[in-house]
Amino acid sequence: LPATVTVDPAFVVGPVRRRTFGSFVEHLGRCVYTGIHDPEHPSADADGFRGDVVELTRELGVSTVRYPGGNFVSGYRWEDGIGPVEERPRRLDLAWHSTEPNLVGVDEFMRWAAKAGVEPMMAVNLGTRGVQEALDLLEYCNVPGGTAWSDLRRANGAQDPYRVTMWCLGNEMDGPWQIGAKTAAEYGRLAAETARAMRMIDPDLELVVCGSSNSAMPTFGAWEHTVLTEAYEHVDHVSAHAYYYETDGDLASFLASAVDMDHFIDSVAATADAVRAAGKHSKRTNISFDEWNVWYQQRAESRPPSGDDWPIAPVLLEDRYNVADAVVVGNLLISLLRHTDRVHAASQAQLVNVIAPIMTEPGGRSWKQTIFHPFALTSRHATGDVLRLAIDSPVTETARFGEVPVLDAVATHDPDTGEVVLLATNRSVTDAVTLDVDLRGFGALRLLEALTLSNPDHTWTATADDDTSVAPRTNTSAKTADDRAYAELPPVSWTIIRLG
Ligand code: AHR
Repeated sequence: LPATVTVDPAFVVGPVRRRTFGSFVEHLGRCVYTGIHDPEHPSADADGFRGDVVELTRELGVSTVRYPGGNFVSGYRWEDGIGPVEERPRRLDLAWHSTEPNLVGVDEFMRWAAKAGVEPMMAVNLGTRGVQEALDLLEYCNVPGGTAWSDLRRANGAQDPYRVTMWCLGNEMDGPWQIGAKTAAEYGRLAAETARAMRMIDPDLELVVCGSSNSAMPTFGAWEHTVLTEAYEHVDHVSAHAYYYETDGDLASFLASAVDMDHFIDSVAATADAVRAAGKHSKRTNISFDEWNVWYQQRAESRPPSGDDWPIAPVLLEDRYNVADAVVVGNLLISLLRHTDRVHAASQAQLVNVIAPIMTEPGGRSWKQTIFHPFALTSRHATGDVLRLAIDSPVTETARFGEVPVLDAVATHDPDTGEVVLLATNRSVTDAVTLDVDLRGFGALRLLEALTLSNPDHTWTATADDDTSVAPRTNTSAKTADDRAYAELPPVSWTIIRLG
């Protein structure tokens, strides 16, 4: 199938934002315990953090990490996680029907974040708690000293404040599964009051108000409208969450998941702009897409324990990703980048073991899932400006979205290095795409690298024994001539082409 893409340096959408490449660590399953934290592991540091996972986090190119949840945060008492570890209480974690041992809390997480070179993004509990506890946590984290909470942080070993900028005002507060779920009006008021008070401590915070839990919620749109009407002036971003998975063998629709993400982002931006107009606000509210990924929610591994069983760090949400899942993840990143004018932060959910690019064996090996690769390559190479493309692509019919373009792509251009990066997905289940890239405006560019992730069997999944035999490989068909580039993109594939 022939497809043409025109790339022009003049058509800038906005800057590539490092915060687009965020991730998420929740006290859920084995994300924290035996994930980032495993004192028994040979590579563990004095805090019990696995060195191999720190290395993989760095290789993944993660910018921010959201913490400590997720649904977990809506029942969390952050004070349980500070002070001498042996004195910390064990608590029931109602969100995941588990026991929380509180071996890792805010101080350990901040030390892990510094080690991994990531920016922490904290969430406050607006489920069972409210304004005061959010202020206490903020004081503990960001006030230099001389007050009860800040001096306690110093006594606990952190002389300097953590200076956390990004804060989520609760999590998925419209979800009936959420502890302390609220109506839009209730939550909007609470979020506005919490935000207003937090800014009295630190006016420079970037605050994220909860949007709908997903775009299929019955109140999607109306929720954002009501919440933002209450909180508009006090917040900077509204959250969006979306998870995709293949249903009933409908690979064609699954591969087109980014169509849904595009629509979702446009809808939230439009709603925020409607509130801006009605409220005569001058500033823009942008989007923190702080949970996104492929997640097979209907699988048994997603079901929490029940009854009298309250395990510590059970196996939960440990999805094994295949090649098609990785192609979709690559395409979702294309969608996020394309919307860099409105999506100012994003977090792939989650980092380790729980719907994650990185997997660990307790005390043992760590390995990369297929979805690791498009994230790592996009994060490493997408720099400078995001460019709007003119794409001329054949279409394919999908049950869920109707006709969709077979080829989806975005490009970045770094004016400092001159490098142009094209990220492309072939969503066809059956046909290769012959890609012709018109680079007018750049003149002749050299091919630096072209890598494609695909496999004749798109159901191939990585394991601890083999996480390398299907990874992005050099696309030998890629070439440049004059001011054009060409490449064959196999069906169900994701490709990165670097030119400079
Ligand atoms: O990421 C897993 C869960 O998905 C989070 O805890 C919750 O916020 C969302 O529903």
